Amino acid sequence: MYLDDAGAAPVLPQVAEALGRVPDGNPSSLHAEGRAARAALDAARDRLAAVLKASRTEITFTASGTEAVNLAILGAAHRLPAHATILTWAAEHQSVLAAARHLHAAGHAVTIGPTDHNAAVDLDAIKPGVGLISIGLANNEVGTIQPVAEAIERAHQVGALVHVDACAGPRWIDIPKGADLVSLSGHKLGAGQGGALYVRDGVRIDPQLHGGPQEWGHRAGREDVAAAVAIATAITVCDGQRAARSAAAATQSADLRSTLEDLDGRLTGGADRLPNYATATFATRRGEDMLLALDLAGVAASSGSACASGSLDPSHVLLTMGLSLDEALGSLRLTTGYTTTEAEVTHARAILTAVLARTPTHA
Ligand SMILES: Cc1ncc(COP(=O)(O)O)c(C=O)c1O
Repeated sequence: MYLDDAGAAPVLPQVAEALGRVPDGNPSSLHAEGRAARAALDAARDRLAAVLKASRTEITFTASGTEAVNLAILGAAHRLPAHATILTWAAEHQSVLAAARHLHAAGHAVTIGPTDHNAAVDLDAIKPGVGLISIGLANNEVGTIQPVAEAIERAHQVGALVHVDACAGPRWIDIPKGADLVSLSGHKLGAGQGGALYVRDGVRIDPQLHGGPQEWGHRAGREDVAAAVAIATAITVCDGQRAARSAAAATQSADLRSTLEDLDGRLTGGADRLPNYATATFATRRGEDMLLALDLAGVAASSGSACASGSLDPSHVLLTMGLSLDEALGSLRLTTGYTTTEAEVTHARAILTAVLARTPTHA
């Protein structure tokens, strides 16, 4: 039973079907195969643009969410006036924080703003002198939805550009309008691959890959038509199903959260969270023990983010939320998906109860 939709959403059947029809050619070639590839790429760009209520010139396809985030932050920062500050927050994704650290090392003024015990950003960090902010749509580890619309308004008041890292969340909630840059991750949408960056017309960014003129000069290299088709198809499906799926997910995650609480877990994340998230921490248990035991019992879960659960380091998000080291090492994230059923949730609750009774605790 797959309860790690936030780690990677299963590839949507509509995506699998669309991928079967992707032409082989290079979109820059003039022959019929090349023209077919160009047509498929253009159609994908138009579909993604339509969902974002944007124009085709505002869509740049990338290989991943990480690449889109880096292109947005590094690309925009290089065009900022000298001394303009780049602002992001302590609980943002590693791709955002690493890009910010890179800019700091290169001599840019960078501020990492504070976040609260739910990983929600402190908007008071947006002050005159800030030239670019990067804010997540939602926190990928605990699901807290960030006040993006207000951040956009405040940032624009001080003349700052806004990058919204929308890699986590657009499957479940709308992306507020008005951002200058928006990054997307294909595997979080049910595309299985690819990424994309919305760049508002008039916003200048420096490319991070140098070579040919592809993708409006933002990203050199032969376009990955299959990845473009996959992400455009996935976001279109999500756009149509978001409301209905979110309502079902909210009920399922509430049931899972109540089980986690019954098992003495301390729930994490704000009340305003992505509807499919059930997260908790168990100070006397280890996340990897719980994950392995759940895996053996047929439940795929996660302990914090997938990147963090690949290592035994505590998650920076949980630590910045004020959790102790033991609590941060004992976290569990269950995220339902579009095809999760009530029966599966009921079964998962029984498995959780049985598995947690068996996994070791430490005082
Ligand atoms: C909030 C957030 N930003 C960026 C990324 C990076 O996306 P990708 O895994 O496609 O590189 C992720 C993926 O986990 C994410 O959750």
